Amino acid sequence: MFTIALVCQKGGAGKTTIAVHLAVEAQQRGYRTLLIDLDPQASAAKVLDRRGDQPPDVTTEHPARLDVAVPAAEAEGYDLVVLDTAPQADQAALRAARAADLVLIPVRPSIVDLDAVQATMDVCQLAKRQPVFILNAVPAQGSEAREAREVISIPGATVSPVALGDRKAFRIAFNDGQVAQELDPKSKAAAEITALFDALNIPTGSHSHTATIERVKELRP
Ligand SMILES: Nc1ncnc2c1ncn2[C@@H]1O[C@H](COP(=O)(O)OP(=O)(O)O)[C@@H](O)[C@H]1O
Ligand SMILES: [Mg+2]
Repeated sequence: MFTIALVCQKGGAGKTTIAVHLAVEAQQRGYRTLLIDLDPQASAAKVLDRRGDQPPDVTTEHPARLDVAVPAAEAEGYDLVVLDTAPQADQAALRAARAADLVLIPVRPSIVDLDAVQATMDVCQLAKRQPVFILNAVPAQGSEAREAREVISIPGATVSPVALGDRKAFRIAFNDGQVAQELDPKSKAAAEITALFDALNIPTGSHSHTATIERVKELRP
């Protein structure tokens, strides 16, 4: 089983949006997927609840119980666990990062978001994880993405070659418990999620942390 955590000290960066989209994408590709929502607001859980019995499975959990919840998911036969976390919850974010093989940090290309990057990096360093940044809600025009890429090109982190645009599909899909790929499989938003999932190269079956680090190095553009 492989575990991904979405972590970012800044609220509104796109943790829940990306967690839910990746979880559904994984499920569609045949990974038996469980989303564990660690945010007390339970936004991801509420979105997935709207799907009724349609997978992926979702549960809410307290971060302090992750050391039980993740092995339990593995025992139940899940291939992938996606952890969605609350912003500004240092201890909870640290627990999630420690429980994860791969830590993803969504970041918007704005100065307030970029200023908050170091706080999330500190959490990853404490957890001894090399995170992958995902530029999110990038405007269609302008140089923000390129400039942001330079700011987050810091030692011990990787920047995903695939960024997500600022797209209506990401905002409205959740209204019906859907994701952008389901709303319109031919949309740019859908293509970005497919490309992002491919770039992350998430393994199936057994794996090791060493393999994870090697794989993340390959991501370096
Ligand atoms: N790529 C995107 N394009 C357009 N809107 C987005 C995008 N990513 C996130 N949003 C919107 O931004 C808001 C915050 O995103 P969310 O995923 O809830 O952030 P977080 O979980 O990090 O607090 C939501 O209203 C969401 O629909
Ligand atoms: Mg959220």
